[in-house]
Amino acid sequence: MNIRTTDYLVFDGVTKRFGELPVVDAPFHLTIPRNQFVVFLGPSGCGKTTLMRMSGGLDTPSTGEIRLEGEPVGKPDQRRGMVFQSYSSFPWLTVGQNVAFGMRYRPDLSSKEKRRRTEHYLRLVGLHEFADTYPNRISGGMRQRVAIARTLAAGSEVLLMDEPFGALDAQRREQLQVELRRIQSEESRTVIFVTHDVEEAVFLADRIIMFSPRPTRIIADIDVTAELGATRTLALRDSDTFFHMKTKIIQAVREMEVAV
Ligand SMILES: Nc1ncnc2c1ncn2[C@@H]1O[C@H](COP(=O)(O)OP(=O)(O)O)[C@@H](O)[C@H]1O
Ligand SMILES: [Mg+2]
Repeated sequence: MNIRTTDYLVFDGVTKRFGELPVVDAPFHLTIPRNQFVVFLGPSGCGKTTLMRMSGGLDTPSTGEIRLEGEPVGKPDQRRGMVFQSYSSFPWLTVGQNVAFGMRYRPDLSSKEKRRRTEHYLRLVGLHEFADTYPNRISGGMRQRVAIARTLAAGSEVLLMDEPFGALDAQRREQLQVELRRIQSEESRTVIFVTHDVEEAVFLADRIIMFSPRPTRIIADIDVTAELGATRTLALRDSDTFFHMKTKIIQAVREMEVAV
């Protein structure tokens, strides 16, 4: 039997309208192989969040279907971890407990391992000292970091991340980009990551899907790994190849904005 392992996450003729408003109008086709890091790059309001919500099962396409390994995506489940722009933590759990809560469906992890992971990811997002604090005592940006730690600790095989680093300062953002990329390659995750930041897109992506303004269609499908390779370090940011790739994409974004 010929199993097509490349057809892991599939958008098959997806469209979406809200009442009279077409968001994704031309049928949206995209096939994402397992373990690919895909970045959705597009202007504000083009429908990126809508696509992510549908991928997570929080909303349904008007037509077409999204499938994970051949199964239509249904309600949110543990296989797909989501970090969205606005995140609500559980106010009755401490920061540490919120992170650990992400691992509640991981009977394969011992309590000791769960504690280790909680500590590791809290340290990573710079909240180690706030493990015992309740979410209402920390800022919105810090709560977003709790969400990131929780999702990474949970170890979902698909990560759906909608501008997760938007509220972070530049340095922590870079650290988390490096770490996310490391986790993705070492632990074999498939990622869809939304951003409107070209530098972030180029640094993280194996592949960038560029969107037009609404009604949205794909205007470019860029193989970043073919040009930059799979290993991403901070040093790469200073390289000529990185700079050229970034410049090319910024130009494409400008041309698109002029064309509208
Ligand atoms: N639940 C909804 N009802 C009506 N319109 C919506 C809804 N969600 C999003 N929209 C509209 O759909 C368009 C795309 O939104 P969104 O997916 O959030 O864009 P992006 O994330 O790319 O900025 C916007 O015009 C937005 O106002
Ligand atoms: Mg959005």
